[in-house]
Amino acid sequence: MRSVKSSVKGWKTAGTCLTVLIILRALGPGAAWPQELAPPRIDEEIAKQEKIYGSRGADVPGGYVTGRGLSDYAELLPTGFCDALGKLGSSDRWLDIGAGDGQAILDYYALEDDAAPAEKCARSLIKARVFAMSIEDRRTDQWRQQAAIFGEDRLCYLTGKRLRDYSPQELGKFQIITDVYGGFSYTEDLSQFLAKVLSLLETGGVFYTMVQGVHLEDGKNKPDDWYQTELLDAAGRDVKVCSWLKKTTCVQVTCDSKSEWDSPTEVINMRKVCSDTAVPRVKLLEYQAGNPPGRRFQLEP
Ligand SMILES: C[S@@+](CC[C@H](N)C(=O)[O-])C[C@H]1O[C@@H](n2cnc3c(N)ncnc32)[C@H](O)[C@@H]1O
Repeated sequence: MRSVKSSVKGWKTAGTCLTVLIILRALGPGAAWPQELAPPRIDEEIAKQEKIYGSRGADVPGGYVTGRGLSDYAELLPTGFCDALGKLGSSDRWLDIGAGDGQAILDYYALEDDAAPAEKCARSLIKARVFAMSIEDRRTDQWRQQAAIFGEDRLCYLTGKRLRDYSPQELGKFQIITDVYGGFSYTEDLSQFLAKVLSLLETGGVFYTMVQGVHLEDGKNKPDDWYQTELLDAAGRDVKVCSWLKKTTCVQVTCDSKSEWDSPTEVINMRKVCSDTAVPRVKLLEYQAGNPPGRRFQLEP
């Protein structure tokens, strides 16, 4: 089995678009993985997951999709996303966590005379500063060309580490944060991840995301649904992901349950309404590598 450390060897942090120095920390299993949450089997699954992140070419598993465009984001995220993106000013900032190839951002920056997939989403001549974040570097030639045209201070690709490994000073604050099958679907520490996202939002800013294979807010799961992200209360009873999110302070949460999709999916809008956000803690019980991984969490009393 390849170690976590060796699987990320050679990844570089693309730091030119950040204002402060980024120091690449070793992503060893102990880097941010509390030992009490790391029985051997979870470690093995995390190592398998690292292999997926590091996979290239024909080795990339079929389900690990990294090239969704802006029109896919428009379909998968809450309805207000495109309007909000279209209203951003040139000094506003959009962070896409788990951006893969960064195709959605490229579509957003596509020139107006391109056969623009962005046509249905965020048609505005004024473009915000955009930040694509991916653990592994999946920049394409198209990304490099566009970044060269517009400048890396406007099209920034952050890679080489996870969201949790960036300091607040490195990233600054954002008006919009998105996550489409990114860190929210892949992280082993859901509450830490969400707390970090909310800390990076300006008050009034919105986190647009989704998560599949969950117990739906509207209760319309089908009998044969299977679950990829499960939450349990302290007594071991199912908790809906949306009920948990709504316990977070200083956010307004709206969930749109998609029971008719192949996998029961919650489409989530979280608006930060004051600065003192606090996310109820959950601990990891199980993690199974995949695209996205299977995860089971328990609310801490
Ligand atoms: C399946 S790809 C999705 C890419 C893109 N959003 C799309 O829909 O095509 C998952 C992405 O999430 C990233 N990712 C997973 N966990 C992350 C974390 N904790 N912090 C930052 N990126 C993460 C991976 O590196 C990868 O870029």
